[in-house]
Amino acid sequence: MSPEHGNEQGASDRVGARGGMEKSFGFRSVGEDEKQGLVNEVFHRVASRYDVMNDLMSAGLHRVWKDAMVNWLAPPKREGWQVLDVAGGTGDIAFRILEASNRKARATVLDINGSMLAVGHDRAVKNGLADNIEFVEANAEELPFASDRFDAYTIAFGIRNVPHIDRALSEAYRVLKPGGRLLCLEFSEVEMPLLDRIYDSWSFNAIPRIGQMVAGDGDSYRYLVESIRKFPRQADFAAMIRTAGFERVTWRNYSGGIAALHSGWKL
Ligand SMILES: C[S@@+](CC[C@H](N)C(=O)[O-])C[C@H]1O[C@@H](n2cnc3c(N)ncnc32)[C@H](O)[C@@H]1O
Repeated sequence: MSPEHGNEQGASDRVGARGGMEKSFGFRSVGEDEKQGLVNEVFHRVASRYDVMNDLMSAGLHRVWKDAMVNWLAPPKREGWQVLDVAGGTGDIAFRILEASNRKARATVLDINGSMLAVGHDRAVKNGLADNIEFVEANAEELPFASDRFDAYTIAFGIRNVPHIDRALSEAYRVLKPGGRLLCLEFSEVEMPLLDRIYDSWSFNAIPRIGQMVAGDGDSYRYLVESIRKFPRQADFAAMIRTAGFERVTWRNYSGGIAALHSGWKL
């Protein structure tokens, strides 16, 4: 793959609340049917190095943001409570939720990519969590579950990779029980003037280089950085969540808006 990549100007070129992510593969415009295949190639390539690269790219901050997500979710410490972690990849969010529930909850990790799930499955076995967790290979846009089934739906750093975000959000709403909650963690719009420059320089210069050195694959990491800059800003994404039917939609920024955590309820 050799995508035509843009530069920091892409930072101001986010899609709005009415969508547009379905045709963007990073800064490149692609056919609507093409995007998912390109995204899948990226995650097949990075799967075995995904966890170590997350630490390097975010200087460990992704752990803080993920812990904050699970704190806000506050999973109950009782049997029978079920979470669906979509685009769950190597299982980071599901493992945290299970530990926070004293291993009482049940988690379903869904991802379109078998390579990412295979890493997650191995980790679950290693952590002694395999009995509490199920791995399902499927598309966030067409969930293979009955309606009104889950108590919570989580998705971390996944939604910007899904071509039709509106479809994924409608599916989230459908599979949640009434009273269920959506939590979505995603890279977002940095709202601090100096930090945004430092962050741009780190993202567009350092991350693809680290990807090249550590994983032998600069292009995949360039896509990941570019896709962050296309994703709707906080208020626009909140509007999309409301359009899917969710109520009491709010968000919290982390690290000056590098990441944002959106919450919504099916009431
Ligand atoms: C950046 S990783 C996030 C993994 C994990 N949630 C985390 O926070 O570490 C994005 C994940 O989204 C998955 N993904 C992309 N498109 C998807 C889709 N349409 N349905 C389900 N998963 C998808 C990818 O396969 C990949 O595992």
